[in-house]
Amino acid sequence: MQDAAVAAQNGSMRGRVTMYNTNALKIGLFGANCSSARTATLVPERWLATWVDCLKLARIADDAGIDFLLPVARWKGYGGDSDFHGTTLETITWACGLLAATERITVFGTVHAPLFHPLIAAKEMVTADHIGNGRFGLNLVAGWNEGEFQMFGVQQREHDERYDFAHEWLDVVKRAWAAEEFDFDGRYFKLRGVRAKPGPIGGTRPIIMNAGSSGAGQAFAMRNCDAFFTSTSGARLAVAGTSQAVDEQQIFNRIMKQVSDVKADGRKYGREIEVYTQGQVICRPTRREAEEYHHYANVECADWSAIEKMLALKNITPQNTAADEFKAKRTLLASSGIGGYPFVGTPDEIATEFANHGRAGFRGLAVSFVNYLNDVPYFCAEVLPRLARMGLRAKN
Ligand SMILES: Cc1cc2nc3c(=O)[nH]c(=O)nc-3n(C[C@H](O)[C@H](O)[C@H](O)COP(=O)(O)O)c2cc1C
Repeated sequence: MQDAAVAAQNGSMRGRVTMYNTNALKIGLFGANCSSARTATLVPERWLATWVDCLKLARIADDAGIDFLLPVARWKGYGGDSDFHGTTLETITWACGLLAATERITVFGTVHAPLFHPLIAAKEMVTADHIGNGRFGLNLVAGWNEGEFQMFGVQQREHDERYDFAHEWLDVVKRAWAAEEFDFDGRYFKLRGVRAKPGPIGGTRPIIMNAGSSGAGQAFAMRNCDAFFTSTSGARLAVAGTSQAVDEQQIFNRIMKQVSDVKADGRKYGREIEVYTQGQVICRPTRREAEEYHHYANVECADWSAIEKMLALKNITPQNTAADEFKAKRTLLASSGIGGYPFVGTPDEIATEFANHGRAGFRGLAVSFVNYLNDVPYFCAEVLPRLARMGLRAKN
């Protein structure tokens, strides 16, 4: 039996949170279950998110010692010329298949609390956890995308109340995972004689993450989750504004403050929360090649109609936003891999940037690629050994 499975069966929550390894800086692959993943682009090699490709990718990642796979729960594509995220694989069933085919990697399922009954979700997640011998993780999402909810005929609650609901939803799931009979008398759920065996592997529970960006979202994560994902694109926008020239050091100073503020917030709730962020990697032998490919995929061939639809969902339109500000937001969303940190450069440069994120206090990074199967093997061969030499990761 593999180390992860042994540790899981021994049942330690710490083991779950550290993903059963000693890597100081965790690395995950983000968004591979969705077509185009995190790059709204029209390049012909864009990611199609077929099952066969996801399976190949998971095996490559597992062999290379990548720590986790984080899918995006997306029920309805954004449209645009590429129908961005128009083709997606459902995340818990996706995780089940990948957990069965791998040995050490943690695989998350991403669940919209308002769309799943908590007892059904709890049972599905326990099943995934048993398939993966304790390697399943939960990304809990409160929901934001109006069109998706309309598609289900589900009325979204007022913003902050979505997190009150998620809190109660998660209470039910945690009670079910405890595998003892219970009644539940909450504001949203009234449940009688609940029985839900088995519990997760090893008498513990899956690692839980959330990525809310609002005050209510962050407070929810601090109270209920083991890991919190925060985006750094706000720091970039605040520093760069509408100008093209960016002061990377100034952006980084803001990011460092952002991480230390989140950790301080966690301590107010008596929690040592693990902080993660996400980004897009374009790694090439020379900086010029990396920058040229980034420009080609993210700017020259950007799916601008999809980018504008995403902005419109957040109520940012040319009608309500000044022209230069709208252009800056549109460019940032495209060039950052829809709101992530742009890791663009040589293996040395990318390894240094990853290390800087570790120094800023991040426990890990979830990264996407234009085409994972084309790009991940080079990243694993070149960047991971550099991070191991820096002492940030174990040698594979
Ligand atoms: C790393 C990461 C993963 C996310 N995954 C999803 C997802 O799978 N589905 C989704 O609808 N929203 C997802 N989100 C959006 C957040 O859960 C959240 O709804 C959004 O940041 C808005 O925050 P708020 O709910 O606090 O306003 C993700 C965000 C990040 C940064």
